[in-house]
Amino acid sequence: MIGKVNWIVEGDFTRLLHIPTSQSGSVLLQPKESVSEILKGIQSVTLSYGENMLGPTIRATHGEEVLVQLQNWLNEETNIHWHGLIFPENMDGHPKDIVIPGESFQYRLPVLQRAGTYWYHPHPHGDTAKQVFHGLAGLFIVADEEENSLNLPSGIQELPLILQDKHFVNGQLDYSLSEEEVMSGYLGEYVLVNGIHGPVAHVASGWNRLRIVNGSTARVFNLGLSGGIPFFIIGADGGLLPTPVKVSVCMLGPGERLDILVDLTSFDIGQEFYLVSNRFSEFNVQGRQSFRMMKFLVNHSPEMNFSLPATLSHIAPIDPGSTIATRRFDISAMNGGGAGHDGGNRHTINGRPFEMDRVDEVVRSGSTEIWEFDNQKGDEIHPMHIHGVQFQVLNRMGGRNQLIESEKGWKDTVLVMPGEKVSVIMTFPLYTGVFVMHCHNLEHEDDGMMMNFRII
Ligand code: C2O
Ligand code: CU
Ligand code: CU
Repeated sequence: MIGKVNWIVEGDFTRLLHIPTSQSGSVLLQPKESVSEILKGIQSVTLSYGENMLGPTIRATHGEEVLVQLQNWLNEETNIHWHGLIFPENMDGHPKDIVIPGESFQYRLPVLQRAGTYWYHPHPHGDTAKQVFHGLAGLFIVADEEENSLNLPSGIQELPLILQDKHFVNGQLDYSLSEEEVMSGYLGEYVLVNGIHGPVAHVASGWNRLRIVNGSTARVFNLGLSGGIPFFIIGADGGLLPTPVKVSVCMLGPGERLDILVDLTSFDIGQEFYLVSNRFSEFNVQGRQSFRMMKFLVNHSPEMNFSLPATLSHIAPIDPGSTIATRRFDISAMNGGGAGHDGGNRHTINGRPFEMDRVDEVVRSGSTEIWEFDNQKGDEIHPMHIHGVQFQVLNRMGGRNQLIESEKGWKDTVLVMPGEKVSVIMTFPLYTGVFVMHCHNLEHEDDGMMMNFRII
């Protein structure tokens, strides 16, 4: 293949940020081929649930049932997983439950959990990364009374930002993997925000809320604002944190979300700054560069006043004393069995690649367990994700050796860096059936870094 340069190419920050349309109640999603101006002046073929790339933002309130009709206009199998949302087994988008080309399926989704920034994407085994890469992904935002009572910045002062990296050949998306990317996962040198390379957003000189999703297949961001402008983390994967936390950087792995507030009340009209990713590692190819992803231009006064509350929500820590089992998952081992890419090594969990019909673990509905993701001997980054639950991160040993600020709330995906062992605690839902746990580096997942667990 054509030699790929993974050094990030910044955009010129002149095209306006695209905000996906919001839909609620009953939604029709029709994945199909589409065309989109991702790079300025170039039409690229994409996949889409909506107009040009990505899909609409589905908005729901706690307690509501959302109906989504999936009509598969692709010429391959697909389905939809509602990442971070806890739904019955047959609605979860397990890779065994796929929709063949031309067919449709209705998802009935009882939204019974707290407010948060969730998202949706396809999950057909072996093709998840490729379909997400080409444009199939969207946000699923849940509201509830607790969050509404805070009157957080909304309307044009609330920006959803889906971050994804791409590589192009002759202006077209290119999903071929180099030797190195078979191991690291796909890395593109163009970072898109909501499907556009290097956009600009016009923001108010007040408080702004940014709901950030890392929708890349493998790239980790070390998010910050240019000039070290501080921001407040108010939420993570599973909704609000107990209190806002002021930081100037935060890492975000594939699949993870970050809900932040930026205070621009002292900014003048005309002032600008950038959303950046800061270097975070010398030895990992991903972490060696700092780059800008989008520009913010302060160009109007705020439509609403806001003051940051001291507390945001109540999160009761799950008592480790209530666990009935601790399971350890070795996520550092490769399987050299030859079944993987080009007959080489394969990404596994506990040394075993995914098998659709093999149930690897059996857990009890309503019970509490600790799961340990052990990457202490590994040298790759693994964002580990569990379907059907929200968990709390208990501790991280080795590597960074501590929890980061965004891990102090509910999570469904946790970044496990080389040398780390991360323990999470969770109470399984009252739903029963087979769900998956996997690495959200989607190349690793497609390669087999996934397992089934059955809730009985
Ligand atoms: Cu977002 Cu099973 O994944
Ligand atoms: Cu998920
Ligand atoms: Cu991985």
